[in-house]
Amino acid sequence: MTRNDLRPPLPVVVLISGNGSNLQAMIDGMRSGDLPIEIRAVFCNRPDVYGLERARQAGIPAIVVDHKAYPDRRAFDEALAARIDEFEPGLIVLAGFMRILTPEFVGHYAGRMLNIHPSLLPEFTGLNTHQRALDVGRKEHGVSVHFVTADLDGGPVIARSRVEITSDDDADSLARKVQIKEHRLYPAVVAMYAKGRLELRRSSVFLDGDPLVKPVDIE
Ligand code: GRF
Repeated sequence: MTRNDLRPPLPVVVLISGNGSNLQAMIDGMRSGDLPIEIRAVFCNRPDVYGLERARQAGIPAIVVDHKAYPDRRAFDEALAARIDEFEPGLIVLAGFMRILTPEFVGHYAGRMLNIHPSLLPEFTGLNTHQRALDVGRKEHGVSVHFVTADLDGGPVIARSRVEITSDDDADSLARKVQIKEHRLYPAVVAMYAKGRLELRRSSVFLDGDPLVKPVDIE
């Protein structure tokens, strides 16, 4: 038995805004025993999205904190952080959470918040990444998981998965190809974190105690 076998599951809170297919991949990994985490709660800024139903079906508290009920971004983020902290998470997983976060919120979870972004970062930060990759004639596209910093989609990248762009691809087909990769990549990175292998020191990623010179490629 190794030390990692003795490590208790890492308490995690997942933040979503929509379908929650990445959340589902985490739930499946948790159930199969591949992912040593305990998802203590799922938060969503929108009511009535399917991701909330996925959480409920898995017996996980599904909590709506509706951003429209708050006067500004700061008030929303403060309320959200207060609710999240009731669950004492060791890691915050942003999985399709479509809100820009205040520097205060990001600072509060520094080094323990991850995001998935559908491009090969640092290319194509922001929205409509699949169409933008097609528009400039890229032959390759993909998805990245990074530590969250105050720099939108600009935090240090941990790992990426690539897909080939073929001549018959449109934004929808490309999104589908990328999502298949997402559902492997994100649980794999969360597992690394949960096993204590990943760390953010200042603005650098360390893997197994060594600085990561380039993002890990995951098939
Ligand atoms: C994913 O494509 C992810 O890369 C992006 O938002 C989408 C979320 O999908 N950040 P889902 O809600 O996990 O299905």
